[in-house]
Amino acid sequence: MKSGPDLDGMRSAGRLAAETLLFSGPLVRVGATTLEINDAVHDFIVSHGAVPAPLNYMGYPRSVCTSVNEVICHGIPSADRVLADGDIVNVDVTVILGGWHGDTSATFYVGTPSAEAVKIVEVSRRCLDLGIAAVRPGGRIGDIGSAVQSYAEGKGCSVVRQYVGHGIGREFHEGPQVPHFRSAGDNVRLREGMTFTIEPMINLGTWKARVLRDGWTAITADRKLSAQFEHTLVVTSSGCEILTARDRVLANSEDVIPPEKAASYR
Ligand code: MF3
Ligand code: CO
Ligand code: CO
Repeated sequence: MKSGPDLDGMRSAGRLAAETLLFSGPLVRVGATTLEINDAVHDFIVSHGAVPAPLNYMGYPRSVCTSVNEVICHGIPSADRVLADGDIVNVDVTVILGGWHGDTSATFYVGTPSAEAVKIVEVSRRCLDLGIAAVRPGGRIGDIGSAVQSYAEGKGCSVVRQYVGHGIGREFHEGPQVPHFRSAGDNVRLREGMTFTIEPMINLGTWKARVLRDGWTAITADRKLSAQFEHTLVVTSSGCEILTARDRVLANSEDVIPPEKAASYR
């Protein structure tokens, strides 16, 4: 449970993570490599007095995760991955500032999206919103997964099971686990001051995943599209506060489909 200076530390880390994600939006464009995005994001984080949490975390080799199209999560930035018109890319940023972690991600459109791309990105964007709306003190972790799973499946999409949200603070990944689907043990009580992420990974086809031989890259078993959005939040007396909230629109993501129109895709 966090309050006082600890919570202020989490707010600062969350704000920097949000600023870093905003910075990364314009980098996602046709012809860019995912390594170029990694390097620019790395420099941005370091120049703000923070550390990119992924770098060397359990042997992870880069500073950010870039997950393109059928990649569910943990895509490793590479000079060989040149972004092309129609790709979708999740950029997942985690910073350590003053010893506290802030973790946030979004899926971006490269150029002009296909109808399938719009569907999976806008459904997953809404899944995060609905998961957040389910958070209240006295509620349960399972309320989040319930809200996400019923919406995603109602739209004919599926929810990834192998990867879940997580407690966060001085450590990158702490308890409790935050599944985005109903599961045993999800009856943990939500209490004021708990800090955790919600980060639903939503697939167009099967929820099943496999991990490539690099030991990190998780892809959909049927190679269909996957998308994800993530925020870090704290439970408050009335609901929650999004620690990685943005103060402006996310380029190449929130600005591509106008909100009124996005509703019709979702
Ligand atoms: N940022 C991811 C998450 O949301 C974790 C990435 S772990 C890494 O939990 F090692 F791949 F960076
Ligand atoms: Co996370
Ligand atoms: Co993350």
